Amino acid sequence: MDKFIIHGGKNLRGTVNISGAKNASLALMPATLLASGKYELANTPVLRDVVTMSKLLQSMGVTVERAEHTLHINTFRVNKFEAPYEHVKKMRASIYVLGPLVARYGKAKVSLPGGCAWGPRPVNLHLEALKELGAKIELDRGYIIAKAKRLKAARIVFNISSVGATGNTLMAAVLAKGTTRIENAAMEPEITNLAEMLVSMGAKIDGIGTPTLEIEGVDALHPANISTIPDRIEAGTILVAGAMCHGKIRVENCEPSHLSALTARLEDAGMKLTIGSSFIELHAPKEILPVDVATAPYPGFPTDMQAQWIALMALAKGSSTVTDTIYFDRFKHVPELIRLGAKIELNENAAIVKGVKKLIGAKVMSTDLRASAALILAGLCAEGETEVLRVYHLDRGYEAIEKKLQKLGANIKRVAGEEF
Ligand code: EPZ
Repeated sequence: MDKFIIHGGKNLRGTVNISGAKNASLALMPATLLASGKYELANTPVLRDVVTMSKLLQSMGVTVERAEHTLHINTFRVNKFEAPYEHVKKMRASIYVLGPLVARYGKAKVSLPGGCAWGPRPVNLHLEALKELGAKIELDRGYIIAKAKRLKAARIVFNISSVGATGNTLMAAVLAKGTTRIENAAMEPEITNLAEMLVSMGAKIDGIGTPTLEIEGVDALHPANISTIPDRIEAGTILVAGAMCHGKIRVENCEPSHLSALTARLEDAGMKLTIGSSFIELHAPKEILPVDVATAPYPGFPTDMQAQWIALMALAKGSSTVTDTIYFDRFKHVPELIRLGAKIELNENAAIVKGVKKLIGAKVMSTDLRASAALILAGLCAEGETEVLRVYHLDRGYEAIEKKLQKLGANIKRVAGEEF
């Protein structure tokens, strides 16, 4: 098992290039199932989750080859329409193959995703939407069995905003007969990136980037090339590292407009930001001001930045409340941060954080991707040595995070590294 050894206290200085967005790649890759042929997905990050999705597609007969940061995908010979449990249990996003398989091949057998570190993660919205589009859905021994001669248009109104359900429904509707309307659709940039790819494949989609999507189904799509958007959560994580470590840092190759909620809160916390067309510069003052935050669907404050924000508030001059309205139990990082000296009380889906003068390094355990990120950030500014165990969680969603942080002057090293 990999671990990171961090010696805290370095003030971060320098520039980091942001990688492509994990949550965009995990939607763009299965979208290639919608039309046979060759695709190039540029700016695809080197991540464990991308490897997992590649292996899942390869198990269906798809060829996936990587050249630098471009994936060359060929869907000429798709001959299996299944996402087995061993893939899905590793990564919930495997369910993204469901919509395309049913739309293009009329059948799919996809394992129900297990829970994750912080609790159950239902897929009812995905299944209800596919049923409204005319798919026959059965559950059989932990598998979703979906069948459809040809999907037909429907008006789908999501009662909650769901990134995955929006993505799956979009990939199903593009080949459905008639015009489908999706209301209360997720507006995350990753869904916009997916919609743009589908349009370049010949899909007809109106309302991209708004909560209402109108999709005029077509009989067939064709392959296309796409570039993956920058990872707004990686960019946000690095900015918070700078904020915690009295940094003077710059994140390059990012899309600042995808981070407005975070940059606004960073300014409220006293950070001096310079925002360009594709970079954000952050100069951190000595004092971090307490700022209450509640997560919300895009363009609100992202739940994927909640753990990192708690780490920042642990060092603020005063108390703050961090509420997660998306996942009520996504707080596995709190007990570990407390082991580093943070003062945090949990009250249902809110963390009340009382800022302390300093954190003290200790051995801590990663439990999930963003919780691990929060522990790394805390270790970077804690006094002494922090050991973060099970960093394979980080490798799922951050490309070479320790190299990026070392570039900023952080004293962090990976021990007993393993290729994935
Ligand atoms: C995506 O997950 C992201 N993953 C998550 O990022 C992110 O935290 C989440 O969106 C919210 O922004 C990928 O894009 C691969 P949802 P997803 O459906 O699609 C409930 C990371 O760290 N819900 O938008 O699974 C759900 O329980 C990961 O990169 C249902 O009730 O999230 C949650 O409360 C973690 N029924 C809310 O909706 C459903 O059928 C939003 O979840 C689906 C979701």
